[in-house]
Amino acid sequence: MSHHIDEIKANGKSVGFVPTMGALHNGHLSLVNKGLDQNDIVVVSIFVNPTQFDNQEDLVKYPRTLDADVTLLKTVSDTTIIVYAPTVEDIYGNNILSQSFTFEGLEHEMEGAFRDGHFDGVGTIVKRLLEIVKPDYAYFGEKDFQQLQIIKKLVELHHIPVKIIGCAIHRAEDGLAMSSRNARLTEVHRNIAPFIYRTLNSANEKFGTKSAQNVTEWVEKQFKRQPLLELEYFIIADTTTLKPVKRKSTKKTYRAFVAVYAGDIRLIDNIALN
Ligand code: PAF
Repeated sequence: MSHHIDEIKANGKSVGFVPTMGALHNGHLSLVNKGLDQNDIVVVSIFVNPTQFDNQEDLVKYPRTLDADVTLLKTVSDTTIIVYAPTVEDIYGNNILSQSFTFEGLEHEMEGAFRDGHFDGVGTIVKRLLEIVKPDYAYFGEKDFQQLQIIKKLVELHHIPVKIIGCAIHRAEDGLAMSSRNARLTEVHRNIAPFIYRTLNSANEKFGTKSAQNVTEWVEKQFKRQPLLELEYFIIADTTTLKPVKRKSTKKTYRAFVAVYAGDIRLIDNIALN
């Protein structure tokens, strides 16, 4: 892969990169299309990274659909997309361990607090993939907003020469944020899941006049009334530091973040608060 990229670059072509864990959906395709707008070639990696899973069952059951993924990418372009699908051994040899990272505290909030070792795993694989693919631009979705901020920090702290581009959340028509895990929802849970985004939107409206604590209590109450969904956290945080807001300031911007269990599928979403 590395040699192939060197050849492409020697021909003066620019390389965009979309790292994924496969089970591709329209959200991924929007990243790929953005990459194709800005680069000659786009590399899509498909690799279910074992070190970022804190839950073994989630790793085992994570959808793996390589053939369908490749077919889908071919509908976008037959000539300008390269799929890189390494094995676990290619990436880790026989030492499936993550490096440990600090990201100036970003790693302790939300997903970092609830998923032990998750961001060490993400940092390890993204750093490794960026070293292999050496892209000019790399694209990440805002659904994993904390991951996006952490990867920007990774690149800054480790002086990796790439520009990280965050892309807006792609949603199904009913508002559910696109995720590979949606494919594993039962019909009942899929039908109720848009409740998450509806509640985020209402939280956004309420945040105009109410305190963060007030809005948080209101959201928690809505989820208590919804027995099919179990709220893990709802947090209103500073967009830059990701620290929970104590007192609103007009000089700062905020985002609301949510993690919810629909049966045994864990879903996350977030919204910019205005
Ligand atoms: O967002 C994802 O799908 C993964 O965390 C990533 C960035 C591909 C790293 O495995």
